[in-house]
Amino acid sequence: MYRTHTCGALRITDKGSEVCLAGWVQRLRKLGGMTFIDLRDRYGITQLVIEEQAPVDLHHTVDLLGREFVIQAKGKVLERSNKNTKIDTGEIEIAVSELVILNAAQTPPFTIEDETDGGEELRAVYRYLDLRRNPLKRAIMLRHTMAHEVRNYLSGQRFLEIETPVLIKSTPEGARDFVVPSRMNLGQFYALPQSPQTFKQLLMVAGYDRYFQIVRCFRDEDLRADRQPEFTQIDCEMAFVEREDVLNTFEGLAKHLFKSVLCDYMGHGQHPRFSQPFPRMSYADALRYYGTDKPDIRFEMKICDLTSLAQGHGFGVFDSADYVGGICAKDAADYTRKQLDELTEWVKRPQIGAKGLVYVRITSEGIKSSVDKFYTPELLQQWATQMGAVEGDLMLVLCGDVKKTQEALGALRLEMGNRLGLRKKEDYAPLWVYDFPLLEWDDETQRFYAMHHPFTSPKPEDLAKFCSNGKEDLKQVCANAYDFVINGVEIGGGSIRIHDTEVQKRMFEVLGFSQADADYRFGFIINAFKYGAPPHGGIAFGFDRWCAVFGGSESIRDYIAFPKNNSGRDMMLDAPSYIDAAQMKELALESTAVGKS
Ligand code: AMO
Repeated sequence: MYRTHTCGALRITDKGSEVCLAGWVQRLRKLGGMTFIDLRDRYGITQLVIEEQAPVDLHHTVDLLGREFVIQAKGKVLERSNKNTKIDTGEIEIAVSELVILNAAQTPPFTIEDETDGGEELRAVYRYLDLRRNPLKRAIMLRHTMAHEVRNYLSGQRFLEIETPVLIKSTPEGARDFVVPSRMNLGQFYALPQSPQTFKQLLMVAGYDRYFQIVRCFRDEDLRADRQPEFTQIDCEMAFVEREDVLNTFEGLAKHLFKSVLCDYMGHGQHPRFSQPFPRMSYADALRYYGTDKPDIRFEMKICDLTSLAQGHGFGVFDSADYVGGICAKDAADYTRKQLDELTEWVKRPQIGAKGLVYVRITSEGIKSSVDKFYTPELLQQWATQMGAVEGDLMLVLCGDVKKTQEALGALRLEMGNRLGLRKKEDYAPLWVYDFPLLEWDDETQRFYAMHHPFTSPKPEDLAKFCSNGKEDLKQVCANAYDFVINGVEIGGGSIRIHDTEVQKRMFEVLGFSQADADYRFGFIINAFKYGAPPHGGIAFGFDRWCAVFGGSESIRDYIAFPKNNSGRDMMLDAPSYIDAAQMKELALESTAVGKS
């Protein structure tokens, strides 16, 4: 037996016991004739002490040790004279009587400490060493707990976990596919699933009316902090349901995770928001009031339409704009000129794209704005009343095209939320957003695209518009789709699906697929639907994102044991890599990298 206890297990109640531990040397300290070793494993750290009077052989072994050596130590549990209240085992230490080096270790290229000296790239190359550090360990353990609780809850709700294939035919979700050449079918390719969308719908046809899967998905798209080329979804589907059934079921899952993971496991307090029904907001309202389809509702600062109040007073910039809108930053009237200039530069950056920023301060000395030339204090007071702004507040106003300006105000709102400390880490604000448009018109290609995916049903009341041939009518059709958002992060998305063959045909027609095209790409599902497809709908949650939000991080990378970097590379494996010429030939692929292997 390598060990009787883990390095996180022993307490003062074990005083006097003979124990055996195994783990990695975190730290070595010599003090006079004594040596202290911090021995680490997944469970914690235990202090070993090699006393001055210990046998010479033991001291010799200790002299060979270095950081990250793997050792086994036997000895007696003692009460520590110098207690460490920061760790669970801090009241005891082990007086070592036998020490075995199980494996030597080279000095790691960075320190294995909570605050490491290793840069991101170096740590990515040595990911297995980085994973030894507490912050990553906590993230990986949180992920496990999440997965466990998801399975617990959904199994309890009669969902079956069913695996679907990874080598498939392309499933369109708006990104590019990763493809895999087939040796046995030369010239043909499998695609890796962007999601198991079509399979879960086929499972509904097959009668498995509640399905879920914690499943890997692959998308060849531009990467960001919250996007990886391979990521994990909690993918779910239900038959014989309407939107309300789906939302209620998965609100149940979310509440279970809030309670079991965030409150019980992570030790956050029970928040009233978790026990109340989650807010629901239409896509139109989300854009109108928050300038985004994934609002962060931890704080108010809603966008306010000022168009009619602001126009007609001789300020040409506002008069010629389609829209004038603003936000009210509470208690920010004391923003200095410098801070306001900085904000102006901030909104003018290409990512935000505003032409300028108008500000109005409400102070004890009256209302002062950057457009005093055009607006009397009485007129500005009308803006304040519309926005609910009072003395001490700062109003920030932008103008331009409706959607772009609302989006810019949305970004400014988040920025002000950050600056004013309103986006509190320990606060969690979930909500549902629904009534998305079904279709998006693309001017460049002169065609409609599905905003979600081509299997999303239009809302029943919009079916007539969906069947009309007018472009404007089609633009107005609402999808029976919904997103789940926490703290401004899109955690999940889903929809009620089309189960009627005629509606599905119409969808392909609207998306510009010829009959032959649709049959080639989706023949299997069109066919399946001829054999009794039940009404069905579902949702998929971004599992990595949900973990990151619960862990209080913006990046999902820490919650994935072996992630890719922003160029889609695995730095540790150095993948992707070239394959050798023989392999290329066998797959009938033209070599683009002759001479490289
Ligand atoms: P959707 O494309 O909205 O829907 O994806 C669902 C959720 O998956 C997460 N997500 C990602 N996470 C990390 N990296 C990525 N590259 C990435 N892309 C998406 C997001 C998103 O909300 N089949 C449909 C679901 C359905 O209709 O049931 C689908 O995949 O959190």
